[in-house]
Amino acid sequence: MSISVLVGAQWGDEGKGKMVDYFAKQSDLIVRFQGGDNAGHTVINDYGVFKFHLIPCGIFNKDCQCLVGTGMVVNPDVLIEEMQQIKDADVSATGLYVSAKAHILMPYHQKLDELMEAKGGIGTTKRGIGQAYAYRAMRKSLRFEDLLKLENAKTKLETIVPFVNDQMASYKIEPYTVEALYAKCEAWAKAYKHMIVDPMVYLHDMIDADKEILFEGQLGAMKDIDLGIFPYVTSSNPLAAYAAVSGGFPAKKINKVIGVAKAFSSAVGDGPFPTEEFGGPIDILRGTGEKPDDEFGATTGRSRRLGWFDIPVVRYTHAINGYDEMALCKIDKLDDLPEIKICVDYKLDGKLVKGFPNTEDLQRVEPVYITLPGWLCDTTKIRRLADLPENAKKYIKKIEELVGTTIAYVGVGPNREDLAIQ
Ligand code: GDP
Ligand code: IMO
Ligand code: MG
Repeated sequence: MSISVLVGAQWGDEGKGKMVDYFAKQSDLIVRFQGGDNAGHTVINDYGVFKFHLIPCGIFNKDCQCLVGTGMVVNPDVLIEEMQQIKDADVSATGLYVSAKAHILMPYHQKLDELMEAKGGIGTTKRGIGQAYAYRAMRKSLRFEDLLKLENAKTKLETIVPFVNDQMASYKIEPYTVEALYAKCEAWAKAYKHMIVDPMVYLHDMIDADKEILFEGQLGAMKDIDLGIFPYVTSSNPLAAYAAVSGGFPAKKINKVIGVAKAFSSAVGDGPFPTEEFGGPIDILRGTGEKPDDEFGATTGRSRRLGWFDIPVVRYTHAINGYDEMALCKIDKLDDLPEIKICVDYKLDGKLVKGFPNTEDLQRVEPVYITLPGWLCDTTKIRRLADLPENAKKYIKKIEELVGTTIAYVGVGPNREDLAIQ
């Protein structure tokens, strides 16, 4: 039996979707364990190009089950749309399940996120994620188990909706009605009743049967609500340890943590981003948005902020997550650069920074760079780490040394097979 957790090592969009699709070949179960449809995980394989928001990226292996897990806030309409997308591509959704303890992201959560962002927010995806988690924390939330006992859904709505409407009144928004929301619950009950599972029974049966289980993280540790760049963060914990909380098993059962990083840095939304470049060689990697691996948000289409690889960030997230191994995606994007910079430290007020700065200080730090020569050749056909150009090997080695981890997978293109391994 093995339980692995794959998480983003930077600011999100590192290439997690591609790596999960790859690992799904050797997995019996993939579990999404936090977040919601703020995620945009790109998978490109023989079935086509997919940008998954909620469906775990293991769905293409017909022998691998997928669980939309506890710890998530799930917009049922978005999941229905995604299931239709994969059916249209002739991929079966029969192995897809939803935890009875996953929370339902309601239309008013999304509305409130939009309204709050319009008044000056932090650049969220406007999917209602923060509001759904806030309602969960206030214990004014419906879970998928309520769709199996609709009378419970109705009782809950009767207490929640007046509270929602009090909030809506301050924005001068038409009140929601219990009847309309209950009608939605009835429709969702029909769509989901065969997919809702007791997550403790389901997961512990899998664990007891010695299955290979992979937990698929969303976002990256820099956007963690507790340890990230608060307040420019998401509302959940995209950290390896949270897989155990969400999965309902002892943390010591996690056998392997895989950190996914991009060969440079990217971020969406507001907040500090020390190595950000405007108009330089990294900024040019963004592309136009025509290609599926151009640097535009997979959920919102927003242009991603870009910068050089930031060692203090990945060293910090390694301290939090403890990567047994890492995947470094998008090395091919650096193929044409004559020189590549790596930020190895920060300076604040002229002095080297010890530890990882708080958000305010991170806005002010000056990155300290080293410059390595590029490799100026095409890496996209390479499948073995040993065959990478010498200067690419040196770049990767430098990152390994400075972070203190092993890079076992190197992404050389957006497709499933575009991966150099040992
Ligand atoms: P995720 O949120 O971590 O799953 O990452 P996204 O899918 O949001 O963004 C990663 C982008 O990089 C997507 O467009 C992928 O198709 C693309 N990608 C992933 N790995 C590689 C790689 O090794 N090379 C190239 N060129 N593109 C990659
Ligand atoms: P994946 O899983 C990149 C960012 C938003 C914003 C902050 C809070 O594809 O890596 P939220 O909507 O969660 O309340 O927004 O987090 N954000 C992401 N950035 N990739 C994502 O997901 C993101 N999900 C949220 O831009 O800064
Ligand atoms: Mg993404």
